[in-house]
Parts: sequence; structure tokens; C-alpha cells
Amino acid sequence: MKDIQFNTDPTLSRKEFYSELLEQVQCICEDQTFWVTNLSNASTVIYHGLISLEHFQEKPINWCGFYITNPKNPQQLILGPFQGKVACTVIPFGKGVCGTAASSKESQLVRDVHEFPGHIACDSASNSEVVIPLVKDGRVLGVLDIDCEKIEGFTQEDKDGLEAIASVIVKCCEWPAA
Ligand code: SME
Repeated sequence: MKDIQFNTDPTLSRKEFYSELLEQVQCICEDQTFWVTNLSNASTVIYHGLISLEHFQEKPINWCGFYITNPKNPQQLILGPFQGKVACTVIPFGKGVCGTAASSKESQLVRDVHEFPGHIACDSASNSEVVIPLVKDGRVLGVLDIDCEKIEGFTQEDKDGLEAIASVIVKCCEWPAA
């Protein structure tokens, strides 16, 4: 792993922040392809980066991690590496915010989780959520899921920045066979 600064300046604009975060995730994945290892380090870098921003000081990010497509059941997500409280272990495709992102292959930017039909509440502190599907050659490998205590915690800029990060993660890992 290249020598890189993993501390984030809390005053960075969202654009500058995501360009730095992208570099950090690239650095993590540089000499490593095992998905568990890379998703573990990616979840901590994204989590700690986001919680350090001024925007999240008052009502922070409270969960950040991955669900992967269950190698034993391709219509189900199963809990992967994350930061935060204990979470539900399986989510069927099509259920909740994560399952919707997985079945539609579309990122979900949820302003208020209480308004999302079928939202699965793992931590009652969550009020908004962003979920990015990890897709390779049309196959859904999993999702990146981030929860925030703030209503409207995430913006289109977060979604765009996280989609770029998800795409690096998809490319740099060797994934379980379908
Ligand atoms: N809220 C998610 C479930 C996962 S937790 O947030 C960690 C959902 O509705 O899919």
C-alpha cells in the first residue's frame, strides 16, 4: 500500500472530499484483490472519512458497509464487512432499500427512510440512506450501504462520488463465483 494520508480535512467541499476518498480506496486495493480484505478497509475509510466532515458533525453517519450477493442464493444479499451496529444478515433482492438497489441495479438516494416503502430498520437512529449497487458485466455483486442520523443526509454529490468509488471496488476485487 502506497504511503497516503488517510485523515480527511473536515472543511473540504464534497467534490474535493470524494476525489481524495477515491484515491484512498484505490490505494487500499492496489496490492490486494481478496474482496473481504478490500471491502473491510473500504468500509472503514469511507465511514471515517464521512464522519469527519462538518456536514455530519451534529447527526452522523451511523452505518457504512457492504452486503454481497449470496454465492449460495443469487436472489439474496448477505451481510459483508461494515462499520456500525449489528445489522440484519440477509436481505432478499427487491426488499428494503438495499434489495431495491440490487434488483433495479440503480442507486437509491433516500431522503427519509421512514417514507421508503419496505425500508428495513436495522438501527433505529437511521433517518436517511444511500445505497449503490456493485455491478460487473450486468451481474450484481452486492451493494454499498450508508445510513445517516440526519434527514436528507446525502446529496446527489454523495451518490455520484460513491458510485465512482463503487466502480473502483468492483474492478479491483476478485469476486466469489456466481
Ligand atoms: N436499511 C436497509 C437495511 C440494511 S441496514 O440499513 C444496515 C434496507 O432497507 O435495505
